[in-house]
Formats: sequence, C-alpha cells, structure tokens
Amino acid sequence: MNIESYIRRQGEFINQVLQEFLPEGVPEILFDAMRYSVNAGGKRLRPILVLESAKAVGKENINDILDIAVATEFIHTYSLIHDDLPAMDDDDLRRGKPTCHIVYGEAIAILAGDGLQSYAFELISKNQSVSSDKLIKVVNLLAHGTGVFGMVGGQAADILHEKEGTFNDIQFIHIHKTAKFIQACCQIGAVLGDASPEEEKALSDYGLHIGIAFQIQDDILDVVGKEEKLGKRVKKDIEKSKLTYPYVYGLEKSKSLAKEHVEKAILSVKKVKNPDILVKLAEFVISREV
Ligand code: IPE
Ligand code: IPE
Ligand code: MG
Ligand code: MG
Ligand code: MG
Repeated sequence: MNIESYIRRQGEFINQVLQEFLPEGVPEILFDAMRYSVNAGGKRLRPILVLESAKAVGKENINDILDIAVATEFIHTYSLIHDDLPAMDDDDLRRGKPTCHIVYGEAIAILAGDGLQSYAFELISKNQSVSSDKLIKVVNLLAHGTGVFGMVGGQAADILHEKEGTFNDIQFIHIHKTAKFIQACCQIGAVLGDASPEEEKALSDYGLHIGIAFQIQDDILDVVGKEEKLGKRVKKDIEKSKLTYPYVYGLEKSKSLAKEHVEKAILSVKKVKNPDILVKLAEFVISREV
C-alpha cells in the first residue's frame, strides 16, 4: 500500500464528512470565514489519526465517531488561523490561499478561530453513540493537548522564546505547540476503540513521538520546501527568528533527530493489534514534502 495515496483518499473522505458538520448561521461572514479556512485544503492528518488509532486497536465501525474525528480538524484549522495573524507569525498564505485575516479582516479571523474551537467541543458533546464517560475523557484529552498545557502553551513559548534557546527550550516548544495535540488525537482514537491501558499508552507515546518529528519536518520544509507545494510561505522561520531544529542543529542533525523520534514511535505502536498503517504514517511524517 502506498501511504501517500492512502492519506490522500482518507483526506478526501474527511473532506466529505467535514461538509456535514460545518456549522451554518449568522452573522454570515463569520460562518463564511470558518468555512473558507476549513475548506482551503490541508492533509487532514489529525482526524485521520483519530480514526486510524481506533482501527489499530480493533474498532471496525467508525461511523459513530466521525464527528469527533472532524472536531479535531476544526480545532487544528482554528490554530492555523490564529498562528497566521499579524500578531503571531504574520502570514498571508495558507493551504495555497490567502489567510483568513487577509480575506475577512483580523477581527473576523480571530472570531472564526474562536468559533471553530468552541464548536468542536459542542460537536463532541452532542455525540449520541459514545458513552458519556468516554466523551468526557475525549474532551479532557483534547482540551489538555490543545490548551494552555499543550498547544496554546507551546504557541506562547514559540512567540516568547529567546533566539539562543537551549535544547530544553526547543523541546518544550515542539512538544507543546504541535506534539501534544497529535498525541491527543492518537489517544482519543485509542479510547474510542476501547483500547486496553497498555494499548492506550502505546498510542499516546506513538503520538508524542510522531508529533515531535512532524514539527521538526515542518521546520525542515520551511528551509528546503517549495511554496507551491506547501501552500504556505517558506523561509519564514529565519525571518521571524524562530527557534527551530534546523536553526539550532542544522539540517542533517535535524533529520536524524526526527528519524529517531519516528523509530521510537514505531517501536511503541507495534504493541497494538493492527499497527501497519500507523507504522507507515510515522514514516510519512518525515518523508513528506507537504
Ligand atoms: C501545520 O500543520 C502546522 C503545524 C502544526 C506544523 P499541517 O502540516 O498538518 O497543516 P495542514 O492541515 O496540512 O494544512
Ligand atoms: C504552528 O507551527 C503550530 C501551530 C500550533 C499552529 P508553525 O508556525 O511552524 O506552523 P506553520 O509553518 O505556520 O504551518
Ligand atoms: Mg507559528
Ligand atoms: Mg506559522
Ligand atoms: Mg512552520
């Protein structure tokens, strides 16, 4: 199986499901802005990880958890809208299109991000098939991974860092701004797939390691990637004096560090029932050019 085409197919499936769950309402411009950024594109990696993690521990019918999977994409899209704002990374291109604030203005972009975030939790709370005990755990994992103890904390550290950071500083940023959310997606899939405690831990560790590798690769692609392919500006991290792996370690060492994390992720995920796709997904994280 070719993992790139598998991810593309799964991404197309997620795109269809997203349409069913996109909210509608007034003020129209707010909903348009949310829809614009969600539909601009993207790999849909986080919902794919939720579903694949559930399948990896033996869940066969995923129809009852699709709303939870797409909720992670709403949160991810919110994080990108805010990440691109002038006060943050100040980017004008995302997923091959002008960023949300360029099209809708800063105020609506901020609110579209806020809206996507709370709507994601609203959506999860409305799921009728999963037990309330499990839903509470899902909400806890997602809030923890994306909030002040996870992504938001990491984004703050990314903005506040000193240029000459230590290994601990850069580890903190990458773990928090990116890996903890990805870890949460894998652990959520485990919970929804009725994983044993050992399998849940294996998927959680897997998620953390592919998450770190994912951000290292993102940093590498900012240096060596192509704007047309990535759909976002390149060479921005240097311009914004970001503390990235290539800046601290150079490209070759960054690649080998990312590979080490992928190897750890693979070792961990091999403890679950059906690890094959997640093994390939881990390899994709560092071979990807988008
Ligand atoms: C970009 O995430 C932001 C990071 C956490 C590095 P993705 O690379 O998953 O972006 P999309 O969803 O495919 O656009
Ligand atoms: C962003 O990291 C991580 C988020 C939490 C959104 P980057 O700022 O490096 O992501 P890109 O390169 O803009 O996609
Ligand atoms: Mg950023
Ligand atoms: Mg950015
Ligand atoms: Mg980046």
